[in-house]
Amino acid sequence: MTLRGPLQVRVFAPAKINLTLHVTGQKPNGYHLLDTLVAFADVGDTLDLSVGNAPFTVSGPEAANVPDAKGNLVTQVAHLFPDLPHVSLSLHKTLPVAAGIGGGSADAAAAFRGMLALRSVMPEQQGEEQPYDELLKLGADIPMCVASSVARVQGIGDVVRALPQFPAVHAVLVNPRVPLSTPDVFNALKCRANEAMPEEIPTLSDAGEVVDWLAGQRNDLEAPALSLQPSISDVLSVLRAQPACLLARMSGSGATCFGVFGGENAARDAARAVMAQRPDWWVQATSLGDQARRAMPQVR
Ligand code: C5P
Repeated sequence: MTLRGPLQVRVFAPAKINLTLHVTGQKPNGYHLLDTLVAFADVGDTLDLSVGNAPFTVSGPEAANVPDAKGNLVTQVAHLFPDLPHVSLSLHKTLPVAAGIGGGSADAAAAFRGMLALRSVMPEQQGEEQPYDELLKLGADIPMCVASSVARVQGIGDVVRALPQFPAVHAVLVNPRVPLSTPDVFNALKCRANEAMPEEIPTLSDAGEVVDWLAGQRNDLEAPALSLQPSISDVLSVLRAQPACLLARMSGSGATCFGVFGGENAARDAARAVMAQRPDWWVQATSLGDQARRAMPQVR
């Protein structure tokens, strides 16, 4: 590999929010079949990649519970690129871990985008294949995080179809600071074969239409997550008690929940009110939608 001066790639890893999550079956290997609509937040982690041999570092307000280099998905993704063995990785963590909003998967997808970007500026490496298929083996949520586009995701997470159009909606994300294990939540599911979403997702043009449509859908993991962690019902109640909250639901396998609001100011006011009421919770006002452009690596 030829080094061409100090090369740095910065990648944004937006939080993934499951606006709906229907569990439609189970495969013989235990993995569940899903039908989920995912959107991405304008809050997330940041991954820096540079040519070098520095050890993997993690910083930021949520760094404490991040697995070390050996157990971290970011380094595992980097190892899928044996043609780029000398890459230093530095993760700035602002998303809580084991929280149902992508977290490790968003970081892994960011590592994938970043490694591809590094490779693209090293002309001698450009013939290599993209190890996209390997991503699913590292985590079922990683493929949906790669594009960071609003998408309908099916299979076990491997069938990702971007929606041609989806409006950004203002929301508040709330995590009660209790980690939840995804396998535990799936194991606590009572019914493993629920109805899929309707075949066609209609064109939704504003927050009101999004909320009306979402209201007819579900997160099938909400009930099992609540059975394991009752504080999720406090989060949903506090969100629903905010005057301008249009809909509140849990994301992924929890425990983070999102509340949808009609405008940016309403979401910010609600976030402030929730923070005042529960200073021990993680609370973020955000915009949910397509983050594909922001998620593109920036080569410096
Ligand atoms: O693939 P990932 O490591 O994110 O999955 C964690 C666990 O969640 C799996 O081991 C499995 O128990 C459960 N899971 C599932 N069906 C999926 C995704 C995850 O049962 N589609």
